[in-house]
Amino acid sequence: MAARRPLIVGNWKMNGLKASLAEAKAMADRAASEKPKAELGLCPPATLVAAMAKALGGSPADPHRIGVGGQDCHARSSGAHTGDISAEMLKDAGATYVIVGHSERRADHGETDAVVRAKAQAAHRAGLIAIICVGETLAQRDAGETLKVINGQLRASLPDDAAAANTVIAYEPVWAIGTGRTPTPAQVAEVHAAIRQDLMARFDDGAGFRLLYGGSVKPDNARQLMAVADVDGALVGGASLKINDFWPIVEAKN
Ligand code: 13P
Repeated sequence: MAARRPLIVGNWKMNGLKASLAEAKAMADRAASEKPKAELGLCPPATLVAAMAKALGGSPADPHRIGVGGQDCHARSSGAHTGDISAEMLKDAGATYVIVGHSERRADHGETDAVVRAKAQAAHRAGLIAIICVGETLAQRDAGETLKVINGQLRASLPDDAAAANTVIAYEPVWAIGTGRTPTPAQVAEVHAAIRQDLMARFDDGAGFRLLYGGSVKPDNARQLMAVADVDGALVGGASLKINDFWPIVEAKN
């Protein structure tokens, strides 16, 4: 099994206008000159996917280009679904990745594990890498249900065609997102080990899937979080909007 290349992905959520492309371009220039060990991705709002892919340039074969991703996709490739965007459209716009099952979508749009699984399958059908998010709420953690919840989400959100080459798992405790609170390294280690075990039990190449931690990753805690066993990188929200916050996180996985 090849070593897992670290992956740091920025999720811009509903932030960013055309003017923000300059910040992304600055990150791409830095990646080109410093050649970080980690693979890098940025997931802007859908309105910026094509423009960002164009602005960042680089060929998919370049290990130091910053790949672009969507934040969601529809399960179908086309049709009467007003307001939705398909995985094929993201691919056509220049995307490499798509986040599916983010807790904000599960909460705001009622996305179930079955919906998330269909979206991950759509990503694979379109040739995108699906970044599938899982994570417990604070009430679930306090009730001692964390591993049960994660196990259930993994089982039901991952399609059978998932493989290390087309799927990344992001563990994002809901209570750590946007709050400045993070789990302890021991808590992250416990969940990541459980995810790894589940993947290895189900998939031949389960040892090769990359597992990201997400939730209040910042320059001052990134090194500690990225050093945890089975943490292959980060899914970064707020701190991915500015190069001065994002870059120390990239360097934390060097
Ligand atoms: P924050 O880094 O802003 O907590 O967001 C994490 C997240 O939800 C990334 O997908």
